[in-house]
Order: sequence, then C-alpha cells, then structure tokens
Amino acid sequence: MKILGIETSCDETACAVVENGRKTLSTVIASQVDEHRLYGGVVPEIASRRHSECIAQVCEEALKKANCKLDEVDGVAVTFAPGLIGALLVGVNFAKGLALAANKPLIPVHHIKGHAAANYLAYPELEPPYLCLAVSGGHSQIMEVKSYTDFSLLGRTIDDAAGEAFDKVARSLGFPYPGGIYIDEVAKNGDKNKYSLPYPKTQNELDFSFSGLKTAVINLIHNTEQRGQKLPSMETLDKSALAASFQHTVCDILCTKLVKAAELTGHKKIALTGGVAANSGLRDMIAGRAEKIGAEIFIPPLPLCGDNAAMIAAQGFYEFLAGNTADMSLNARANGDL
Ligand code: KG4
Ligand code: ZN
Repeated sequence: MKILGIETSCDETACAVVENGRKTLSTVIASQVDEHRLYGGVVPEIASRRHSECIAQVCEEALKKANCKLDEVDGVAVTFAPGLIGALLVGVNFAKGLALAANKPLIPVHHIKGHAAANYLAYPELEPPYLCLAVSGGHSQIMEVKSYTDFSLLGRTIDDAAGEAFDKVARSLGFPYPGGIYIDEVAKNGDKNKYSLPYPKTQNELDFSFSGLKTAVINLIHNTEQRGQKLPSMETLDKSALAASFQHTVCDILCTKLVKAAELTGHKKIALTGGVAANSGLRDMIAGRAEKIGAEIFIPPLPLCGDNAAMIAAQGFYEFLAGNTADMSLNARANGDL
C-alpha cells in the first residue's frame, strides 16, 4: 500500500511516497530556512506564502521520483496539527484537493506522531509498545507509544522546547538561525564542565523546563558584552565551553528524565526523534545511559530527524489501517493533543 505524505507545519514544504509505512519510495523537501534566517526565526506569513507557491511542484516531484501516479497511491496523509496555522492550512487544503480529485482516502496525521514514525523508516524491527522522546523546535515530550496510533503523554515542556532553547542561546552567541547545529559543532571543542548551569525543577518529574537554563546562559553572554567585550572576540567568555556546558546540561536533563520514564513504565525500547535528536551529544549520551539500564535505543538517521513528509506518510499508513480517515470538513489546528 502506497501513501502520499504532505507536511507543511513549519518551514519545510515536503511530500513523500512511502510503501506499507516502512519503505521510502521518494522524499522531497523544499526548505525555506534561508529566507527565515534573515529575520532570525520563522516568519509565519512568509512560511504560508512559500508553502502555497511550491507545494504543487514538490508533490509532483515526489510522485515522479517514486515512479508513481496519483491514481496509484492508496491514500493522502497530511499533517493537520500542531504547527503554524497558516502553514498547516496550505497542506491540509492541498491534500483535500488531491483526495477529492483522485477519490482517495484523506488521512490526518498529528505532527509528533509523524516524528515517532520516522524510526519505522529506519528500523524495520521497531514495533510498539515503546517509549519515545520527541525533541524539536516546538516540542519536547516523553510519550508512551502504546500502539501505532495510541500514544499517551508522560511529560512535556512547561515553557520552552529544547530546540527553541538551543536556537535562542545560539543566537546570543552570534550564530545564524536555526542555531542548534552550530552549538553542536562548537561544543565539540569545549570544556563541558567549565560553566555550571542551573538544573530546573518541575512538579511532574517527567516534565521539562528549559526557560531558566536558557536565560541563565543568555545573561552570562550579555553580562560579558556589557563589560565592553564584543562577540566574537569576547575575552573572558569561552564560547565553545559555554556551548558545551549548555548542551551537556540540556542532554543530561533529557536523558535523565527519559531513563526515569523507562524505569517507571518498564519499557526496554526507547526511541528519540525530532530535530534535536540530530544532536551528537544527545545521541552519545542516551546510547550510554540506555546501555546501563539494558534498554534498546532507536534514533533516526540525521535526514529523518527534522521535518519531512516520509514520516507523515509512514504514520499515515498506520492511521489508515486503524480507520482514522477524515472527510472534507478536516481542519488544521495550531495546537493539538496527541
Ligand atoms: O523537528 P524540527 O526540524 O522542526 C520542528 O518540528 O520544530 O526541529 C528543528 C529544531 C531546531 O530548533 C534546530 O536548532 C534543532 O532542531 N536542531 C538541533 C540540531 N539540529 C537541528 N539542535 C541541536 N543539535 C543539532 N545538531
Ligand atoms: Zn517537527
């Protein structure tokens, strides 16, 4: 069974064709990041416009690369929540048009469930139940994946998402948007023990809070600047060490809570997903921690960590099998429970 996936929740216009939820036949991503970088972050209005301009072409290319006609797909899966509302609407309306014109089932997919499905494309043996940490620019949550379509939320961020904290710290250090990858790079040469940073406390021990940590780092940078030292030649501030200390603290918080969740639930399979799952420090740290508790770890290869449509098509396959299709009244939602 072939599913066409469509993803437009943020700043990537993406379409893909996936067979039986596991085999990527094609995946096409048109990124707008170069344009948003000029403004230091995603500009929602620009995102919607660019999605509208290129979605038809991206879709055509995905079908062509998969050597497949629209007639030959068995369903059209689309991200309907959560995300930027104007951006989501472009994908949802386009998917509705295709489904109606070609008389195909329309399959709504939750973006975070889609991120979880990225691992199905890389690990044929991975099946629910398992524990999943989704960490991206907009989300940081620990979920129990009870079945392919039934998730329960164990912990979430009460303020900033991990990726958001990475991006804001990176910006204060003078890196372009999105800055997570630059922190990852400079942290490799830094002393992670040089700066001691606050560990946030949360009422629910599986929740996250990154806002205080982010502010502590940004204040450190600004205080140095106020003493008259300019980036990038700040003398007393060791950029690599600060990046390393910040990254180490974020990864430690994420891994500690994820391991705690594994102990509480008894899961021995742990998956990571989302843009921040590309972080080399996080990948190394969770591998070590998982080994200690005898858990198996699944992390998507780098191209599947960030937003893409193959993961939406993969999840769409399982939603379709579960009978989760929609009619033409499907609407996009900026927020959305799992
Ligand atoms: O999943 P994603 O592409 O989009 C959302 O759904 O938000 O995640 C984007 C986020 C950004 O905050 C970006 O800085 C972060 O993932 N990211 C990283 C790395 N690569 C991307 N953060 C830390 N280290 C990385 N290597
Ligand atoms: Zn995402």
